[in-house]
Amino acid sequence: MTHTALVTGASSGIGRAMVRQLAAEGSDVVLVARDRARLEALAAELGEAHPTVGVEVLPADLARRDDLEAVAARVAATDHPIDLLVNNAGFGTYGDLAELDVETELEEIAVNVTAVVRLTHAAVRAMTARGTGAILNVSSVAGLQATPGNATYGATKAFVASFGESVAGELEGTGVTLTTVLPGFTRTEFHERAGVGGRPVPDVAWMSAEDVAARALAAARAGRPWCVPGVLNKVLVAAAGPVPRGLKRRIAARVARRV
Ligand SMILES: NC(=O)c1ccc[n+]([C@@H]2O[C@H](COP(=O)([O-])OP(=O)(O)OC[C@H]3O[C@@H](n4cnc5c(N)ncnc54)[C@H](OP(=O)(O)O)[C@@H]3O)[C@@H](O)[C@H]2O)c1
Repeated sequence: MTHTALVTGASSGIGRAMVRQLAAEGSDVVLVARDRARLEALAAELGEAHPTVGVEVLPADLARRDDLEAVAARVAATDHPIDLLVNNAGFGTYGDLAELDVETELEEIAVNVTAVVRLTHAAVRAMTARGTGAILNVSSVAGLQATPGNATYGATKAFVASFGESVAGELEGTGVTLTTVLPGFTRTEFHERAGVGGRPVPDVAWMSAEDVAARALAAARAGRPWCVPGVLNKVLVAAAGPVPRGLKRRIAARVARRV
């Protein structure tokens, strides 16, 4: 069982679902996101539902270097150590690169990539020194191929997938594991925040945040390096394997324009 988990992006969606599940199992939780009021509301809810669980609220904008360092310091702390780090915070931008605001693209890289590397580094150092711990990084099936129409997002998630799989290889035999989870379409605030909430994707393609969270946490608990949650997502990823890159690119471009 996890004793203390730190979850980034805990104010909403997959991260909030993970926090609720971890607390229900009796884990203490450290909640990281920008929206202090939402984190405090979640802390109050958890305090009511699970009075013995310890909840820390650590508001941070992971695109800001000083905030990121404060979170890294909590990850590295030896007092009440973190034994599960979940790098879940992230956002996406849709549109052709030339039309997008470059500052937002750079912020996307800061949150989706730089913060993941910084916090994974802090966790790997602290956890390997103790010989135990788990890291769970949230990538996306969008990271497995080119994604015209959300190029920066797909590239950040490709980074998270490649980086995580490599570090998982480095950690073999240390007692510390790194799991990369690659969700498909998941019902959260993600698409509304990206301004693409209204366009139709078939119901069957969607998973709930709770289902994705449960499968990801189970994979982390088992120390599995790679987790594509859901049967449909697994089938689509396997089927896409032999498809030529050019065709995958064209299909991905159509999907980006539909969502
Ligand atoms: N939903 C999907 O279809 C889907 C599919 C594949 C992968 N994913 C990945 O799943 C992860 C969670 O997303 P979600 O779907 O649960 O979306 P969501 O409901 O929009 O949640 C995103 C979380 O990230 C936090 N966040 C965003 N920018 C941040 C920043 N600068 N600093 C700190 N926290 C920040 C948000 O909190 P604040 O606004 O309070 O900061 C929020 O808690 C993301 O990495 C996303 O890329 C989602």
